[in-house]
Amino acid sequence: MNLTCYVTTTPNDAISLYFIQKNDYSNWIKEQNVHEQTWLKANGFNAESGTFCLIPNAKGDVESVVVGLKDENDFWAAGALPKALPAGHYFIAEGLQAELRHLIELSWGLGAYQFTRYKKPPEKPPAQLVINSEEASPLSALVDAVYTVRDLINTPTENMGPSDVAEAASQISQTFSAEFQQWEGDELLNQGFPLVHLVGRASLNKPRLIELKWGNPNHPRLTLIGKGVCFDSGGLDLKQSHNMRTMKKDMGGAAHVLGLAKLIMHQSLPVRLRVIIPAVENVISGSAYKPGDIVKSRQRLTVEIGNTDAEGRLILADALTYASEDNPDLIIDIATLTGAARVALGTDIAVMFCNDETVSHELMNNSKKTQDPIWPLPLYQPYRKLIDSPIADIENSGSSPYGGAITAALFLQEFVKKNISWVHFDVMAWNVSHRPGRPEGGEAMGLRTVFAYLQDRYGLGSAR
Ligand code: BES
Ligand code: ZN
Ligand code: ZN
Repeated sequence: MNLTCYVTTTPNDAISLYFIQKNDYSNWIKEQNVHEQTWLKANGFNAESGTFCLIPNAKGDVESVVVGLKDENDFWAAGALPKALPAGHYFIAEGLQAELRHLIELSWGLGAYQFTRYKKPPEKPPAQLVINSEEASPLSALVDAVYTVRDLINTPTENMGPSDVAEAASQISQTFSAEFQQWEGDELLNQGFPLVHLVGRASLNKPRLIELKWGNPNHPRLTLIGKGVCFDSGGLDLKQSHNMRTMKKDMGGAAHVLGLAKLIMHQSLPVRLRVIIPAVENVISGSAYKPGDIVKSRQRLTVEIGNTDAEGRLILADALTYASEDNPDLIIDIATLTGAARVALGTDIAVMFCNDETVSHELMNNSKKTQDPIWPLPLYQPYRKLIDSPIADIENSGSSPYGGAITAALFLQEFVKKNISWVHFDVMAWNVSHRPGRPEGGEAMGLRTVFAYLQDRYGLGSAR
């Protein structure tokens, strides 16, 4: 995994980077030589977050760069540097606290990302950061996983329909010698995935259930499930244009689990990994499913369709039943499931639901460590009645306008075997605007937290 934004040897011409927190600046500058002091002053540098100042030597070559940070948590400020700094080699000067240095290295990699499939990148290559050779492999794997998530989400449905998601999963399987399997179209009915078929049957790009298996069968079984709605028009309950505009991202959950799978396999986590992706397009044709339809799920619960735009939970229901059948140690699903989760926690924070308090607690600890935000919402059982149906076992959308992220999670919970630890993430998977290190468009959210947690739980591997 070679990313052009990092190098592991220190070239002679490498330029030193000083990251200075605003509060420390007045003390720090006193310790610099007169040349540096006068230069920084003349340039009006005041260590504002994300600002930087190039300092030349006597020959006029850049010798060092001083970068301002708001505080010790301001690692994202470094995300602007690979594109903003002149091409060349840079190394982080001694003295920076290890955790901040690691996050800055990460931010650098994430800031170097370019989505180049449809538009040429700028001429200037990213500035290159010198990193420690032992850290290069896990760090690059982590950054690569995020790139994978972003690329998959940013690719429009025309080139990232259900068959393309399957192709992407198949390629990843090949790279790591994992087993790959899929059922498509009417095979879904024979194999017992009626809800995946129902949601996806109106599209020319046939619905499918994609599965990847990897690792020693004697290791603990970890199952990842990703919502793979390659486009969510809302179905017959059609979305309005402004809500539909970004719905190529509705396979963001699938993108997350594929990114995670790459990371887990690359770092050889000692687990028996299973990835399950129901991939569909929620679109309209004569065969589209309809409000009021009642369909029997894989688990044999009958589901009444209250709204065809609540399609994610339908396809995930069959996937969760399927996942539960071999009693894994842990199931994690990731989905762009509800607008309500975004109303609750905004666009950046992954909403977490979990039926196991210890797991939830440990995930929160890892979120703090990795600075990759997640936050729990409750599986509040009294709300379960909001998705009762008078004529079926359950309805996919209640009539209440409140608590939509919770009722969606409670719907999913019906399809998970009671004794299995299960985590559900409701994510945005999209940056609504550009910020350093986080370009507008597809984004991995909670992925670093989950991976750090998995490393704690299952041991070995060392990506941050
Ligand atoms: N894919 C959407 C949820 C979504 C919307 C996620 C915007 C992120 C940003 C999902 O399929 C959906 O449409 N959910 C509905 C459910 C409702 C009909 C019960 C929603 O949240 O409005
Ligand atoms: Zn929808
Ligand atoms: Zn959706």
